[in-house]
Amino acid sequence: MASGPVPRGVSTANLPVAVTEITCGSTTRFSTGLGELDRVLGGGVVPGSLVLVGGDPGIGKSTLLLQAADRVARSHGTVLYVSGEESVEQVRMRAERLQALHPSLFLAAESGMESVTGFIAGMEPGLVIIDSIQTMYLPDLPSAPGSVGQVRECAARLLHVAKGQNIPVVLVGHVTKEGNLAGPRVLEHMVDTVLYFEGERHHAFRILRAVKNRFGSTNEIGVFEMSDGGLREVANPSEVFLAQRPLGATGSVVVASMEGTRPVLLEVQALVAGNAYNNPRRLVTGLDWNRALLMVAVLDKRIGLNLGGCDVYLNVAGGVRAEEPALDLGICLAIASSLKNRPVDQFTTVIGEVGLTGEVRAVSQLEARVKEAAKLGFKRCVVPRNNSKQPFQQGGMTVFPVGSLEDALEVSFGG
Ligand code: TYD
Ligand code: MG
Repeated sequence: MASGPVPRGVSTANLPVAVTEITCGSTTRFSTGLGELDRVLGGGVVPGSLVLVGGDPGIGKSTLLLQAADRVARSHGTVLYVSGEESVEQVRMRAERLQALHPSLFLAAESGMESVTGFIAGMEPGLVIIDSIQTMYLPDLPSAPGSVGQVRECAARLLHVAKGQNIPVVLVGHVTKEGNLAGPRVLEHMVDTVLYFEGERHHAFRILRAVKNRFGSTNEIGVFEMSDGGLREVANPSEVFLAQRPLGATGSVVVASMEGTRPVLLEVQALVAGNAYNNPRRLVTGLDWNRALLMVAVLDKRIGLNLGGCDVYLNVAGGVRAEEPALDLGICLAIASSLKNRPVDQFTTVIGEVGLTGEVRAVSQLEARVKEAAKLGFKRCVVPRNNSKQPFQQGGMTVFPVGSLEDALEVSFGG
């Protein structure tokens, strides 16, 4: 404890304490019952934490949280799910579909903030879910529900509840089209953890990403697949992302991307087509647009592939986003393969960053990537020479180091 007299008027509740004197009640996290969600949270839910789950409308936020609510109700204790958007009957119908019917899961269709905090104080649930923060409102504020003022103030009340009663609260936040005005962005600084749920609406895959986490790393992702019975966890993303890969097709290259601590194999696809009108198009989905353009320029200038008169389309299969520089070499090979109309060997994985002189640069965590490729039965792996000087074997796979883009093309197409 701090020593010496305390001046009048100073609160004695939060006096400064020597750092060595502070004992931490070990943060006992509890599981949400969904391993992929736990991973992104940093190993489960921390009591008293305020978590924001953002995402486009219709992406599956309510589904994810209702599934988690049910699992927590089964294993941990009472859960209060407050919906400001749907009636309790509607939520119950979804719960039936998800087989999430448990007597410890309580639903309330309420958007008045005072009632909600009242429910929480009365029930003392083990977990609270607010779906969504944009529908909550405080009558004493002049602005309308969903406005920045309301969203902030309601979140502040819930922060107070979370910290004061040591109850974890999850807020759902819709990303709004108009530059995220009253969307999750205005809350990011207030909450402990910010997760974004993303995916292409017409693909089944959904990726949960942490962009801020006071209780864990922000590198982790969780992978889910939307099915008729709700979200299914995808424990081995590589297998799923490569499942529909066309074997022996031109313009298709397998790359190894790190998603957090997990290596994930993805298929990069390129289509190079002649453009007769002299206004070549570059269309990129799932990859970083600027990097993709750099790769086109490097291939054009350093390798002499004449791409100036061609349309170039690039895509990551499965509706996934991957923006790592380690994908550069795979992007280059996919483009070259489509242009030359020659497939890259289907049992080859390609890893490496490409610089502007056409050099192949080292990547982080090569070992994990290479192991993942070997695990999935690939026979060859192209890696940066700066990571490994000599070719080597890894679980039945031969690893070929290359120093330049030219080398890589040579290895992949045989001259
Ligand atoms: P929802 O969780 O309501 O999205 P959000 O809360 O982010 O707005 O999910 C919406 C979509 O998910 C909806 O279009 C239907 C689909 N869905 C399924 O495909 N399977 C299911 O089991 C459920 C519950 C929803
Ligand atoms: Mg919803």
